[in-house]
Amino acid sequence: MEPRDLLSDDIFESWEKINQPGVIHDGMYVILVNEDFLGLFGYSRPEDVVGRAMGEFITPWPTGSVKLGRREYMGRRSDGSRMEVEAICLPLAACEGILYQTLLKDISQEKNWEGKLLESERLTAMGKIAGEIAHEINNPLGGILLYANLLKEDIPEGSQQRENLNKIIKLATRCRIIAKALLNFGRSTSKAYSPVDLNAVIKDMYSMVEDHKIFKEIEMDFRLSGELPHFMGDRGQMEQVVLNLLINAAEAIGGVGTIRIETRYIHGSLLDGADKRNFIMLVVEDTGHGISPEIIQKIFEPFFTTKQGGKGTGLGLSITRGIVQRHGGRITCESTIGKGTKFTVEIPVNLKN
Ligand SMILES: Nc1ncnc2c1ncn2[C@@H]1O[C@H](COP(=O)(O)OP(=O)(O)O)[C@@H](O)[C@H]1O
Ligand SMILES: [Mg+2]
Repeated sequence: MEPRDLLSDDIFESWEKINQPGVIHDGMYVILVNEDFLGLFGYSRPEDVVGRAMGEFITPWPTGSVKLGRREYMGRRSDGSRMEVEAICLPLAACEGILYQTLLKDISQEKNWEGKLLESERLTAMGKIAGEIAHEINNPLGGILLYANLLKEDIPEGSQQRENLNKIIKLATRCRIIAKALLNFGRSTSKAYSPVDLNAVIKDMYSMVEDHKIFKEIEMDFRLSGELPHFMGDRGQMEQVVLNLLINAAEAIGGVGTIRIETRYIHGSLLDGADKRNFIMLVVEDTGHGISPEIIQKIFEPFFTTKQGGKGTGLGLSITRGIVQRHGGRITCESTIGKGTKFTVEIPVNLKN
């Protein structure tokens, strides 16, 4: 008996009209499939599929009683590749308890989107909360620092109390720096966009840090383009981007090494070939310890740091990425352990073009 003979003519006809991948089964084995099912799973003939276990195509297919209604499974194509599928399983009219029809839909892409959306919503919410907390913490911290400094005037230099107090001030100052960074993190798009000269920002930021001891043994290799147009942006935020990348590079070197800073005007993105806008490119490359492949995808996450003993906040790169994205740009990182690390930033010259 052909599988089709199990079905009355009107059921078979209405089944044929369904323009969505579908399979009729007895709960365990495939009885009948339509063309769309074959297409979705990569088979050419119904004979390749009929009679086989449902679990060969849809996993994990429930053993025991049939699970009716909507569920999500992994679908396995003929070439072994996988997709996420939505399955709606209903008893077949007039064959209730014997035959079922399951309609399928490839939802791999939707799932992917859902994940990305959830992630970005989570980050947005986190940024907002972080900003609010930072605001609440910032004011009392100011008070703590003020009173600690007042107290310091009454305590003789060289005493143990004075030393303890200095520790309090140092730690409170550190909290303040973190709170300030968080305040910035929560801040959304700035309306104060004006033309920014990235080369000037780089020079300013370097002159701020060059006397610091971590830059003492570092050779700087500036390759700043002489034809760099100004771009529409927030100068204060761009200063932060440059400073974060510069300090991370110096910290990764931790002694003798070279930091190369390059700017360039590029027509069309180097990081995304489909993006044909004009960009300002910034590269900060160091000869530091590098980043292992296991952690490189985490470095942009808020609070991710490998710096021990409270030396890092793990906020620098997440703030940096936030700023770059608010400017319509992108940032990537390439690194080789023991050799060094290269950050590439691209910012569109004109947000709208
Ligand atoms: N230039 C670099 N070379 C090596 N590792 C880096 C570099 N920049 C960032 N990292 C890694 O990324 C982590 C996160 O950086 P960041 O967000 O700036 O936080 P923090 O500097 O406070 O640790 C660092 O702890 C470090 O492990
Ligand atoms: Mg940092």
